[in-house]
Amino acid sequence: MKVTIFGTGYVGLVTGACLAEMGNHVVCVDVDQAKVDGLRNGVIPIFEPGLEPIVRRNYASGQLDFTTDPAPAIAHGELIFIAVGTPPDEDGSADMKYVLSVARTIGEHLDRYAVVVNKSTVPVGTADRVRKAIDDVLGERGAAVDFDVVSNPEFLKEGDAVEDCLRPDRIVVGSSSERAVARLRKLYAPFNRNHDRMVVMDERSAELTKYAANAMLATKISFMNEIANIAERVGADVELVRQGIGADPRIGYHFIYPGAGYGGSCFPKDVQALERIARGHGYDARLLGMVEAVNAQQKTRLFAQIQKHFDGDVAGKTVALWGLAFKPNTDDMREAPSRRLMEALWEAGAKVRAYDPEARAETTRIYGERDDLVLCDNAYDTLQGADVLALVTEWKAFRSPDFARIEAVLKNPAIFDGRNLYDPRVVEDAGIAYYGIGRGRSLQR
Ligand code: UDX
Repeated sequence: MKVTIFGTGYVGLVTGACLAEMGNHVVCVDVDQAKVDGLRNGVIPIFEPGLEPIVRRNYASGQLDFTTDPAPAIAHGELIFIAVGTPPDEDGSADMKYVLSVARTIGEHLDRYAVVVNKSTVPVGTADRVRKAIDDVLGERGAAVDFDVVSNPEFLKEGDAVEDCLRPDRIVVGSSSERAVARLRKLYAPFNRNHDRMVVMDERSAELTKYAANAMLATKISFMNEIANIAERVGADVELVRQGIGADPRIGYHFIYPGAGYGGSCFPKDVQALERIARGHGYDARLLGMVEAVNAQQKTRLFAQIQKHFDGDVAGKTVALWGLAFKPNTDDMREAPSRRLMEALWEAGAKVRAYDPEARAETTRIYGERDDLVLCDNAYDTLQGADVLALVTEWKAFRSPDFARIEAVLKNPAIFDGRNLYDPRVVEDAGIAYYGIGRGRSLQR
């Protein structure tokens, strides 16, 4: 099929590449000329495993193209996807200006029936606003063109985005138009073999499904962080509790890992946005507010532990930091717990020596050059001259370090394990003080 995608960010680029891979003709539109030029030369603006070969191959074969010119792109697409950003505005609501501006652009150029598909995570009711924006512009033009607007939220995870996109566990399609649903069925048929993964519903339910999925996952994490904080105080080990409850299939093992708090481009933004949506409709969604509050506090956990370790005085200390990205397999630093930790350390007069396998450039972009931040080339370099070590992102490379070496180099051997990656006994046996998240029991011999 002929597909047009507005926005070559995470969602747009991955969706475009995967749809091209499945044999569709895809044109991606972005306002950023430099980004488009880069993509045409195989430069992928994000770090996402498996994405580059698909983009390069499909661009070379002509299945995938990039442009800044909306007119021919809109003429091309039977399906026109909107996959632009919805950053939070000052009060935490999703800012719809990019989505609505694409809608107006579509209205300016549309000259035959097309299905406009919204992939961005948008407030409930956006499909109606997009429809109205297109209709208004068509009206100004005096053009009578039929079109449908469908909500088709994306559930991909950074780091697994290509895999999630090629093998979705469900495809949510919100539309009351049979004609539009038929087109999406055809588009998604190759993703939908063996059993039907498509769940068809109305637009508003589809829009709410996306928020509900993210809010549910964020709730599981904050719940576990709450249990971890209780475990610490009552002398229990949350890692044992996690295994004990995860075995119940009604609870499950996924997304119950306590840690330094959730980050990324979705959970923090979407939980806040859903709370705003509820408030806008006269409902106080207290649980969602608490999910966010617990997470915000969790991001201060590591700093609090480090401060306590040094009896409140971290000024002049140097902290080695492993992992900067908000999770492994990405270079994304949005809402990353590492940022809260570094900023708190700097504020208190401490220095940071950090290593991340992918997020070095991103860290420099955000913080620039500064005296109290040294970005190292490998994990062990961070230890030189450092007092203690904090682990914030659970990259595979950090899983089984040489504890004897860490003990030998750190001035004040202590590990602050923000992901409960290590066995407290192994660390303590190496002569290193261990601090985990919610692991009161495991340190009592
Ligand atoms: C998430 C959703 O998983 C995805 O479906 C949606 O489309 C976008 O948001 P993503 O933000 O890429 O994806 O990351 P994810 O792997 O879900 O992790 C989010 C955060 O939760 C990370 O900071 C991670 O460290 C944290 N997390 C996850 C925990 O702290 N504990 C867990 O048990 C799981």
